Amino acid sequence: MAASAKTLTARNDSLNEDWTIVVPRRGRRRGRTNPLIQTREPLPQQQAIPWTPTDFEVDSLRESKLIQKMELCMKKLETSQFFLTLLDQIQSQEILHNLQKVLGFDSNMQMVIYGIGSIESYENPRLQLSLALLLKRKFSWIGGIEVFDPVLSTTESQVLEVLGCLVLSIDEQGRRKALKPTIFFMPHCEAELYDNLLEENWRVGLLKNIVLLGNSFENYEQYASQFKNSVVALARHIFSISKFTDEFKIKTVSDDYYGAFHDSSWHFFSPVVDPGSQSSNFDCIPEI
Ligand SMILES: C[S@@+](CC[C@H](N)C(=O)[O-])C[C@H]1O[C@@H](n2cnc3c(N)ncnc32)[C@H](O)[C@@H]1O
Repeated sequence: MAASAKTLTARNDSLNEDWTIVVPRRGRRRGRTNPLIQTREPLPQQQAIPWTPTDFEVDSLRESKLIQKMELCMKKLETSQFFLTLLDQIQSQEILHNLQKVLGFDSNMQMVIYGIGSIESYENPRLQLSLALLLKRKFSWIGGIEVFDPVLSTTESQVLEVLGCLVLSIDEQGRRKALKPTIFFMPHCEAELYDNLLEENWRVGLLKNIVLLGNSFENYEQYASQFKNSVVALARHIFSISKFTDEFKIKTVSDDYYGAFHDSSWHFFSPVVDPGSQSSNFDCIPEI
């Protein structure tokens, strides 16, 4: 699915459906200013669920075509001004300082990619995966890459493995505990998934291990007044972490990369112990 908008979701109990509030993209859709409300399928229960692709078809022709498409996509991305600008950003003092803080004494960090989308059906997920693979190739501080999206087909999962990624067999619902430095790449995921990740890691000692490349949290804040309270409640960790977050927006540079990377930022979290907290969860920042 190509993400054309930032989304926040809230469960509507009376209809037993989820509402998705779609905030119009900036730039090309500047004319539309009011949030649109759509319905969507309910999300599965918020717990890790064993997962396999819904299709079992092994199709070697589809596989080789997809590998070719990925190779072309990586070539195009590697020489783009967008990628070169991003490399400059990553090697800037401010980002290097934050990466070093997360790494501590470790030499590399695992990359976990949630919500990549269908790499066979859409160019944006291919560009996003290409970015992850190129960054791993370029920087030794990026370790293995794990990928999960419930929409992945058997063909896509096999191609991901050929490209050196590990496809998870469990839907973690974004709830990976960052027990060690981890970069989470969550391109255009729904707010609930970011919120799950933050909630699972709502400890000083865990949040400091996270590098998050995903939807801009500053943009969520900016649009907060347009969301209903029930929707904001589902993203409460996103709003609560803002004062402990260093965010660096990435530049899409040209229209070719807008769809895949618009409104995306690097996020680093530097929580401090809440001295006022009396509970055994004394290092939750803040308690919510
Ligand atoms: C808005 S789409 C973004 C797709 C793609 N990254 C893009 O930019 O076009 C959000 C993606 O999150 C995926 N998703 C939903 N629940 C997920 C979960 N529990 N873990 C990982 N991905 C999930 C959806 O299947 C979907 O592909």
